[in-house]
Amino acid sequence: MSFTIAIDGPAAAGKGTISKAVAAHFMMAHLDTGLLYRAVGAQVIAGSDPLKVAQSLQAEDLQRPGLRTAEVAQAASQVAVMADVRAELLEFQRRFARRDGGAVLDGRDIGTVILPDAEVKLFVTADATIRAQRRYKELLEGGFTTSFEQVLSDVLARDTRDRGRATAPMVVAADAVVIDTSDMSMETAIAAAISAVQKGISS
Ligand code: CDP
Repeated sequence: MSFTIAIDGPAAAGKGTISKAVAAHFMMAHLDTGLLYRAVGAQVIAGSDPLKVAQSLQAEDLQRPGLRTAEVAQAASQVAVMADVRAELLEFQRRFARRDGGAVLDGRDIGTVILPDAEVKLFVTADATIRAQRRYKELLEGGFTTSFEQVLSDVLARDTRDRGRATAPMVVAADAVVIDTSDMSMETAIAAAISAVQKGISS
């Protein structure tokens, strides 16, 4: 039987870490759907046509190195505005979600568009400055050279694009549990997410 958990939220809110921990806790598969858009964005930077890349995207493309850079994040949010690109990526996500044992998908439109019938929906958010601080730390730890101001402006630009696009904009699903992680450690945020999922499972 398939059981789906949708985890949405803005850039660098901690969705990735929380989704991985939730998936491990409930022994479910996890798909970081941002990687689909990043994989398309990365190939567009290299000169390819976004729609053609989306049409031929393979699971292996999500494992390619270099998808976590700030440049690829911006390219991802630019291709994510394109309705035809989103339509091509939709079935891959639904197919992943239908697997036996259940799945956790994280992104921007999982609870609203990809899996509107997901059994549990979370919307993980945090203050933009705090999100930028977390992403800045991650990038420095990953060996990238950048400034906090640059990271903050990148995060804000993506938030604006993700919220403002015509197709599948980032909005809180009516039936989502909102977790604001601004004042939480990652451990507390993970515990809050697991507890919200547990409640969703038992209700
Ligand atoms: O990790 P981070 O939160 O910075 O971003 P991500 O989840 O890897 O997503 C990169 C970009 O892909 C986002 O800024 C969105 O524009 C886009 N995206 C989307 O439109 N829909 C999704 N389900 C997932 C990501």
